[in-house]
Amino acid sequence: METNTLEKIHEDAKDFMPILGTDYIELYVSNAKQAAHYYKSAFGFQSLAFSGLETGNQETESYVVVQDKIRIVLTSPLKSGSAIGKHIDRHGDGVKVTALWVDDATYAYNEAMKRGATSYMEPKTEEDQYGKVVRSGIHSYGEVVHIFVERKDYKGVFLPGFQEWNTFYNPESVGLKFVDHMVGNVELGQMNRWVEFYEKVMGFTQIMSFDDKDISTEFTALMSKVMSNGNGRIKFPINEPAPGLKKSQVDEYLEFYEGEGVQHIAVATDNIIETVTNLKNRGVDFLQVPTTYYDVLEERVGKIDEDIDSLRKLGILVDRDDEGYLLQIFTKTIQARPTMFFEIIQRKGATSFGKGNFKALFEAIEREQELRGTL
Ligand code: FE2
Repeated sequence: METNTLEKIHEDAKDFMPILGTDYIELYVSNAKQAAHYYKSAFGFQSLAFSGLETGNQETESYVVVQDKIRIVLTSPLKSGSAIGKHIDRHGDGVKVTALWVDDATYAYNEAMKRGATSYMEPKTEEDQYGKVVRSGIHSYGEVVHIFVERKDYKGVFLPGFQEWNTFYNPESVGLKFVDHMVGNVELGQMNRWVEFYEKVMGFTQIMSFDDKDISTEFTALMSKVMSNGNGRIKFPINEPAPGLKKSQVDEYLEFYEGEGVQHIAVATDNIIETVTNLKNRGVDFLQVPTTYYDVLEERVGKIDEDIDSLRKLGILVDRDDEGYLLQIFTKTIQARPTMFFEIIQRKGATSFGKGNFKALFEAIEREQELRGTL
């Protein structure tokens, strides 16, 4: 593994693409209404905005849910034969849009296009009584797109075309704060192409890389490079499968997603023990490492603030780097196909991604694959 220092990252990052943060993540799903209920009841999101027949939208229905800085849009088509319907038919439920909050969506689009991006949406201004929003978009790996959102002149609840979604049922937050990173799975041999895309087109810097020596078990392997924007608010690790004795989790993803796409969304919390306790009580299933993992934990990561027994009970993993430590846990895949899942992460100084947990984790994933007969 190589790690660049923060200073070097800033110095290297040609920040022609200043990004303020993740604006929203949009998933195309087969039943947006029920998916929204799941994100609320299981993951502690709140109702935010709605678009559909009642707002004059004859084509799609979208529910927007929010938790602190995380906004998730769940969209389904209202008719057959749509592009969204085809997306769902091919991929199942999955991430279509990673929207990036920028100061100037026209400038961001022009800079990206100048550097070789493929256009998804030319800059477009949408308006309602709350002001205006400018959005533009470019293609990324698979069918994933990045939409630049400029909302400095907008006071509405989400975007023009959406109305406030008021519900009687408003379960409490589980303490999820913001998107820490979002991981893509790409085809064998494609990782470097997308690393280059994020470097050239988006001005990102590679901050870490893992090869099959870092990430492998007896059976499966993968390679990964982590791309970050200049201010470090956007981090996109990109995985590709590496040859192993059996089918890797990335291969399984690519097979069932029928192409490249978002593998997991990592969301940050300030109190992982409380958050995971809550999520479990609400029915979220997590990958479980063997309890022997905890027998050598303190030896491996040193003293930590958390009670090891609580971590063992919940199955929370710990890793340390030069800057501190982190706690993390991974949900099982959350839709019919064994494709996307969530990571819950709490950083206590560490800026890495849990390399020390990869082996234990992958063995846990392989046990799940074994049950599906896809290993
Ligand atoms: Fe992750």
